[in-house]
Amino acid sequence: MANRRQSRTNRILSGLEGRSIVFLGMMGCGKSAIGKMVARKLGLEFVDADSEIELAAGRSVPEIFAEYGEEEFRRLEEKVIERVLSEKQVLLALGGGAFMAQTTRMMISKYGLSVWLKADLELLLDRVSRRPNKRPLLKKGNPREILMNFLKVRNPIYAQAELHIESKSGTKSEMRDIVMNALIEHLKAS
Ligand code: S3P
Repeated sequence: MANRRQSRTNRILSGLEGRSIVFLGMMGCGKSAIGKMVARKLGLEFVDADSEIELAAGRSVPEIFAEYGEEEFRRLEEKVIERVLSEKQVLLALGGGAFMAQTTRMMISKYGLSVWLKADLELLLDRVSRRPNKRPLLKKGNPREILMNFLKVRNPIYAQAELHIESKSGTKSEMRDIVMNALIEHLKAS
């Protein structure tokens, strides 16, 4: 079993050829939670883009939005992602809006394998409602309507990701295994 697991890991790492793995998708789809677990399995460093932005700014994401506004947040987000990806191979979890920036998509196609964790509205709503103060964009109105709008605008852009994986409501380790298998299949085919 250990050997088999080892070879799954090796197959993914050699298929990546040094590229990073980049998780993208809507807030609440599980990018960070699942990303951490997949990174651990692969022995890759896990980086959360929002946490890196917070470190760089010395403020939390809600504080950055409140003090400087969304535009400044997006500027920081692009810079941080560019730095992380050009530095080393990692598993990077993006914030929900990051893939909307064309420069970020270009960076990712140069340095990474983009993985879209797709989730439906009800699952997202359930997840984001557990931490109501974490996401300033959901404070601007009715979270269901805001998420519905984001899904409409963002899904066609998220769809440019190389690999699409359905994010399900099962356990995190089930999702981790689904992602590991999807990575193996995808890298085998490409
Ligand atoms: C955002 C998602 C958040 C964070 C910020 C903006 C978005 O990250 O980057 O609040 O535009 O969807 P998560 O997707 O990790 O919640």
